[in-house]
Amino acid sequence: MQLVTIAESALSTTLQSPERLRDICASLEAGDIVFFPSTPIHIGSEDLKFLLGHQQVGGAYHKNIAYRPQQDRITGFSDQKSDTSRRLRGIMKSYSQAVIEFLRQFLGPYQAQWKVDYASYRPEEEQGRDLTLRKRNDLLHTDAFPTRPTHGDRILRFFNNINPEKTRNWITTETFGGLLEKMRAGKINGSAVPLPSSMQMPALKRTLSGIGLGALAPSLKRSPYDEFMMRFHNYLKENSEFQSNCPKQHWEFPPGSSWMVYTDMVSHAVLSGQFALEQTLIVSRHAMVAPEKSPYGVLSRLAATRE
Ligand code: SIN
Ligand code: FE
Repeated sequence: MQLVTIAESALSTTLQSPERLRDICASLEAGDIVFFPSTPIHIGSEDLKFLLGHQQVGGAYHKNIAYRPQQDRITGFSDQKSDTSRRLRGIMKSYSQAVIEFLRQFLGPYQAQWKVDYASYRPEEEQGRDLTLRKRNDLLHTDAFPTRPTHGDRILRFFNNINPEKTRNWITTETFGGLLEKMRAGKINGSAVPLPSSMQMPALKRTLSGIGLGALAPSLKRSPYDEFMMRFHNYLKENSEFQSNCPKQHWEFPPGSSWMVYTDMVSHAVLSGQFALEQTLIVSRHAMVAPEKSPYGVLSRLAATRE
């Protein structure tokens, strides 16, 4: 996994080159992180000051403050009607619009074949957060949404570190395809990583084939694809051998930077950092420039094998 760095001085020439933009989409789809040392998203200094003054997610239920662009609504902030909440909603709305506007150009090859999902504000220090195991973000995982199935479409996340001083620190390990292959063979870095029976052949095949990966199986709450991705997410977080022994890469995202990554494919964890903004896009799997590398592509191939 690599960092594809886009310096501020290179941005306008990059935006004018369709070939370069296509290469960037291909890098993202191969599991690279696209990194902007200086964010291309303008956030006004008054808005920044306001965000940094609101450090808490309201209530125990929500992990972050979420902004739902379709409904122009925020959740995870206790006081919905106050001026504070209106202001926060306004800031999140312009952040969300600015990111989408930028990505319309920067990810031009996708021709906006995506659904705009939630944006979030992450005001809490990530190190040592008291969250239940499956909600913890400091354990390596690939993203899957329990209540928003993607049916094979991709989860692309764009982040801003708005902390004025501290880096946001991530670790990553291999991508979905590589991990699944090693887990099916039973070992990562010498450690046993037995796949649960529900994720092995022939159960895997029963889940994935026949009814079509994206279709909704009557016996499942989710599509077979989403069911598998959710199980995989849980399995990674619950496997302490894997968490301790897998090879890791460390990334430090400085104040004022942005980065984006397909978090359904890149197994990632945030170890520390406070104050980030984020926008999620659900990119159509039909828009991929390298569909065979996507988790859907990997699983489709497995489902079609004669094992
Ligand atoms: C995550 O997606 O797991 C967390 C990333 C972050 O908040 O930096
Ligand atoms: Fe995640």
